[in-house]
Amino acid sequence: TSTISTITFSDNIKVDEWEIDTNKLAIKEVLGGGAFGVVRKGWYTDAKGQEIEVAIKMLRDNPTDEEIRQFQQEIEIMKSVPLHPHLVSLIGCVTKQNLLLVVEYCSKGDLQTFLRAASDKILKATLLNQDTDYEKSKYVFNKMYEINEVDFQDIPLPKDLISIARQVALGMEYLSSLKLIHRDLAARNVLVSDNNIIKISDFGLSRDVYYNNIYYKPSPGKLPIRWMALESMTHQIYTTQSDVWSFGVLLWEIVTLGSTPYPGVSTQEILGMLKIGYRMKKPDNCSAELYDIMCNCWKPAPMERPSFTALRRALDDMLATFS
Ligand code: ADE
Repeated sequence: TSTISTITFSDNIKVDEWEIDTNKLAIKEVLGGGAFGVVRKGWYTDAKGQEIEVAIKMLRDNPTDEEIRQFQQEIEIMKSVPLHPHLVSLIGCVTKQNLLLVVEYCSKGDLQTFLRAASDKILKATLLNQDTDYEKSKYVFNKMYEINEVDFQDIPLPKDLISIARQVALGMEYLSSLKLIHRDLAARNVLVSDNNIIKISDFGLSRDVYYNNIYYKPSPGKLPIRWMALESMTHQIYTTQSDVWSFGVLLWEIVTLGSTPYPGVSTQEILGMLKIGYRMKKPDNCSAELYDIMCNCWKPAPMERPSFTALRRALDDMLATFS
């Protein structure tokens, strides 16, 4: 076992059937930066000798003991969560030499980037066409640039946006049924896979409802203020109902195609505004029905917010109106 200061990599981790032989792993380009490391693309040769595309999460150089402990815990949580179509699935891990978390690769990247790319395409089409009609602009853009089918598919229609929201709700319904709290639900932590299947990522950083949160002390600058429930900001209380608040903000990110919540408002101003009852206004192109759902997620009393089951059902019903 290699040792970094006082904590050995294998202290809090079981070497088990999830252990991957590093020789079967080819590590490639950086996909993104995480809280305490990077995620790289890679290839894993599975038991049948097939090469599968993977994402590999790793610690930065010279991690602190706390970072090692958190990463070990993230790996253990991921091992403990049974597969679900809307959660990023674990492929394996390396815990012997260094720590690596190997998960399924989601070909279309994170939801925030995905939505912003769609927004850019629609904006370009609108400018070219001097037309603000979403459907028509998309058609014109497609014609003018003869963009391929894949590109065209990546401009989500209103019903696709509801489908994205519903898939997140399904994943969260499952996570909450396991008594796990995400704590950082946001478009940047949701991934888009082939066929626009949505997968919640970074849920390994979640904590058990009954787990005391002694280790969870992120520095103030790193808190996702714009996604946080009132009680998380004022009393550091995190529950499934505070995840529901974040889900409401994620709905807002989806309908605005990746805008940053509370536009024009500084981080420091947000808490004060929320306390006096201020909430984000209804975005353009957002139905009154969907806005109503968002506002319910942002009720001051956590118990008055809908459950993920109620949210998933509401989105099921909304989706049914499109077909
Ligand atoms: N970025 C971070 N995690 C990823 C994953 N699993 N697939 C694709 N891009 C990612």
